[in-house]
Amino acid sequence: MSLPTLQVRVAEALELNPLIRSFRLVALDGAPLPGFSAGAHIRVQVDPVAGAAPDWRHYSLINFAPEGSATEAPAEYLIAVRKEETGRGGSRFMHERVKQGDLLTIELPKNDFPLHTGPGGTVLLAGGIGVTPLASMAARRRAEGLPVKLHYAGRSRELLAFLPQLQALLGDDLHLHADVEHGGPFEIDLMLDRIPAGDRLYVCGPKPMLDAVLARTQARGWAHDRVHFELFTTPVVEEGDHAFEVELAQSGQRFTVPADQSILDCLIEHGCDPLYDCKRGECGVCETAVIEGEIDHRDYVLTAREKSLGQVMQICISRAKGPRLVLDI
Ligand code: FES
Repeated sequence: MSLPTLQVRVAEALELNPLIRSFRLVALDGAPLPGFSAGAHIRVQVDPVAGAAPDWRHYSLINFAPEGSATEAPAEYLIAVRKEETGRGGSRFMHERVKQGDLLTIELPKNDFPLHTGPGGTVLLAGGIGVTPLASMAARRRAEGLPVKLHYAGRSRELLAFLPQLQALLGDDLHLHADVEHGGPFEIDLMLDRIPAGDRLYVCGPKPMLDAVLARTQARGWAHDRVHFELFTTPVVEEGDHAFEVELAQSGQRFTVPADQSILDCLIEHGCDPLYDCKRGECGVCETAVIEGEIDHRDYVLTAREKSLGQVMQICISRAKGPRLVLDI
């Protein structure tokens, strides 16, 4: 599911705080870049492991300009990367090895997290670096003259990026929450209490925040399509994750999936060519029929009923509960 690629030059690489680095990317000939819509991302080719094949990481495109034309043919792409010490190395590559003047290969913008076009206001909730797609959404709503609020939460104010730009864009519609100042984490219920019926909520942040928002909105009986979300990190190893065997029924091939690797990555490593896109359990592209074995579902695609049937799984994120799975591929 690859998109056309493009080489860009790093016009600026800036440390915004100890954890976040931003990059301004421009075309090699200085021409305008392909346009994008609010919520879109690019994939950047990273090379975290010497000798291994390059990999791709997904970064949202940031725009603070409240003019509708700002993202139609932009002079640059702005992205920001949070350093993940326990990640797979992509963010360390972007923090430690990429510098001003370097060339990067990117894919053209794609939007898996679009704004709706119907009636109702827009409430945005960002956790940490999850602010990047939501900043563009806030700018878009300002350009449209439509109501928007951004709740932006993080451990401390020093770790929240782009505050001057967001304050200039949103004024009183920006609500900051620093855990250390408020004596605890962001109160999701308090925010939900104040959202008028008919407004939609867009969430981008770490998995615990997303899971909590989905649980609270479901408990309140919110319709599924009132909450839109994007995770900003790729899946991490969870406590108790174990290795298991996966058998491909159509070819008879068998592989051992290590505790710290997804089925999808294991298949790719062994020369298979499975379909995938988000690698975060959000898009459904990697859905695979399961013939045998108990599934540990971790995706945001299947309904509770579909999960209980145990007939399909998203192999980019879900795993085996037992020692073996047989997949219909
Ligand atoms: S690749 Fe998107 S759900 Fe698996």
